[in-house]
Amino acid sequence: MTTSDDPVAGAPPSVVLGVGGGIAAYKAAELLRRLRAHGCDVTVVPTRAALRFVGEPTWSALSGKPVSAEVWDDVHEVPHVRLGQQAALVVIAPATADLLARAAQGLADDLLGNVLLTASCPVVMAPAMHTEMWEHAATQANVATLRSRGIIVLDPAVGRLTGADSGPGRLPEPDAIAEVCFAVLAGSKTDLIGTQVLISAGGTREALDPVRFLGNRSSGKQGYALATRALARGATVTLVSANVDLPAPAGAAVVSVESAQDLHDAMMAHSHDCDVIVMAAAVADFRPRHVAGYKMKKQDDGPAPTIDLERTTDVLAELVTSRGARPTPLIVGFAAETGDEHGDVLAHGQAKLVRKGCDLLVVNDVSAGQVFGRDDNAVVILNRDGTSTVVGSASKTDIADAVLDVIVGQLLVNAAP
Ligand code: CTP
Repeated sequence: MTTSDDPVAGAPPSVVLGVGGGIAAYKAAELLRRLRAHGCDVTVVPTRAALRFVGEPTWSALSGKPVSAEVWDDVHEVPHVRLGQQAALVVIAPATADLLARAAQGLADDLLGNVLLTASCPVVMAPAMHTEMWEHAATQANVATLRSRGIIVLDPAVGRLTGADSGPGRLPEPDAIAEVCFAVLAGSKTDLIGTQVLISAGGTREALDPVRFLGNRSSGKQGYALATRALARGATVTLVSANVDLPAPAGAAVVSVESAQDLHDAMMAHSHDCDVIVMAAAVADFRPRHVAGYKMKKQDDGPAPTIDLERTTDVLAELVTSRGARPTPLIVGFAAETGDEHGDVLAHGQAKLVRKGCDLLVVNDVSAGQVFGRDDNAVVILNRDGTSTVVGSASKTDIADAVLDVIVGQLLVNAAP
């Protein structure tokens, strides 16, 4: 809908920060600061319950604006309609179970409910509640309804909750929520709304003894960038993370693993109901056949130990096999290659695409260690239909978007009658 109040080009983006009545409301104050530091013009709209956790003076002082939960204040300015119409983004943090239910129902007996019904801009919700409430069928149905309407509902983080308990239900860190907001404000596509994506990232470690392991140099940056961008584009993301020292992307359900076997088990457990699986992790092909139960000691005059290795499971190949003849999930592999006397990087990539049986293979050239740990990358995305997409040197974020573009294109092809 076009109104005379449409945002003016160059004006700071108008953001409504909705705050639900949960203990995590205090973290929304930090999110407010991030949004303002980014140049956003933020109006805080708390629920009545939110004001019991953090009072109006805090929101007013931090936003520089009057704050109300009610439709009855400043009625002459018609805030219950104007705020939603003028917003470039509505972000709700924390979104409580009650607030999700009310939004799904379209209830509008407070200002925030009215904002949600009048907003035509993107809406991001960051839930926070106890695990039981998040996992309850009623909440999950409400989340599914909201997502089906195009609202980006982030998955809560896993960790310590209000009491002594822990589990899924923590509000994602304000920094991470802010990143999603900035991506949406920057005009990020929302073509993955309703899509379930499972991503592996990082590098596995295979224990030799309680203190030593065989590992690899994967930083996890590319897999994390994929998760971050998929979330910003509206996907629901489970991130199986192997030994990565990076902050969790907001809204991703992160499953931490160590070994190739752990990663295999986590991927198989979460692969059901996925639309897309991306194997960006560097998975060990071999592990020590025997793991010493004690720290191995060197013997001054003794021989150096020989490590007997055995093969690990090829997770990507097993995912392809367990999919069978179905077109979903779309399965994407990664291949870090160097050329050798048997062929160049692309020839190795083509052979691997066929051998692994995946739909897409993202090939990068790691000759001279030019990828690991760096912030940029260059890849060729090979499609089993014989086409390929070259992505020249770019940030891992841009590479992630390019990979997601090809994934979205392939999903559309698969969905065509
Ligand atoms: N992969 C996997 N399980 C393994 C090894 C690799 O799922 N045990 C996946 C990786 O996550 C990646 C793809 O397979 O998506 C290709 O990984 P790569 O190490 O290049 O393949 P390998 O099969 O190990 O091939 P190579 O013979 O080149 O070592």
